[in-house]
Amino acid sequence: MQEQLSKMQADALAALETVQDREALSAWHRQYLGKKGQLTKMLRSVGELPKEERPAFGRQANEVKLALEAAYQQRAEAIQQEEIDREIAQGALDVTLPGRPIRPGHLHLSTQTLRQITAIFAEMGFQVYESPEVETDEMNFGLLNMPPHHPARDMWDTFWLGENTLLRTHTSPGQIRVMREYYPAPIRVILPGKCYRYEQVTARSEHQFYQVEGLAVGHGITLTDLIGTLTEFARRLYGPERRIRIRGSYFPFTEPSVEADMDCILCHGEGCRVCKYSGWLEIAGAGMVHPVVLKNGGYDPDQWSGFAFGLGVERPAMLKYNIDDIRLFYGNDLRFLRQF
Ligand code: FA5
Repeated sequence: MQEQLSKMQADALAALETVQDREALSAWHRQYLGKKGQLTKMLRSVGELPKEERPAFGRQANEVKLALEAAYQQRAEAIQQEEIDREIAQGALDVTLPGRPIRPGHLHLSTQTLRQITAIFAEMGFQVYESPEVETDEMNFGLLNMPPHHPARDMWDTFWLGENTLLRTHTSPGQIRVMREYYPAPIRVILPGKCYRYEQVTARSEHQFYQVEGLAVGHGITLTDLIGTLTEFARRLYGPERRIRIRGSYFPFTEPSVEADMDCILCHGEGCRVCKYSGWLEIAGAGMVHPVVLKNGGYDPDQWSGFAFGLGVERPAMLKYNIDDIRLFYGNDLRFLRQF
């Protein structure tokens, strides 16, 4: 039996020498080391040996097994190396070929625009203040002078997360947070961020979009400061020839409230499709901070005054790049996104 084992080992090693490729190698493995291979069969027949010969046989069988496995491993590596050498010799693998570049992504158009707007206001001395997207009813409405059942709440319907928590409809609740944190210092901040509205999605309106809120609180701040700030902003974003027009409007949290329009960047006031033949484009809702809001923020309205404005982000980008549908911003179509 032990002689048979030695012979099997010699045969196996000789056979391995002739193996040239992967298929032959696995056939060899099956034949000698596999479940039904010769070594396994011999190990199974150990019971036929007299008891005293069994330990020696077991030891030898183990040695043979280790030797065959080592030889198999060596041959497998040699075959793999031969394959690589062959491919290189045939030119199938050109190791000098430059790798395929990984196409890096870039900032989304909304983010780019947000950063442009932030940079412009930073130059004018506004700090960035971040406030949460999940807000309370009180912050989004109540403290902004819209108590429960106030009709203006209908303009800003939202997604409710609970009885008193909601996704903010505008960045204005941040005004209260800034005031409460900064009091009694004067304030000059912008609050950029995502807003959500429960409203019909159209070419001009999304259910999620960015806004940049502006807030300045100090002594003797007037409406002309607001007009000057918005004019300067429009000129820095759209070009030095821009003009601003102020119309009366209504927001519960500002008094007086205004709507700021800019002369149309396409037709320069002549009238075209983009400005709906009015010559003007709306850029922000704004006004002087309402005394009730100042008070809710901790500032005495007899001593302090301030202005606030709320700009969209996607709509200014649409104007700048002549994009006619806001839905493209969140449609995840790379053909659109890669253009910017
Ligand atoms: C407001 O949200 C006020 N909080 C703005 C404000 C702030 C007024 C401070 C006074 C003082 P309004 O709903 O008009 O106002 O939104 C402001 C801007 O957000 C719009 O001009 C527009 O650019 C953008 N916006 C509003 N709704 C949408 C929408 N559904 N999709 C895309 N942009 C929107």
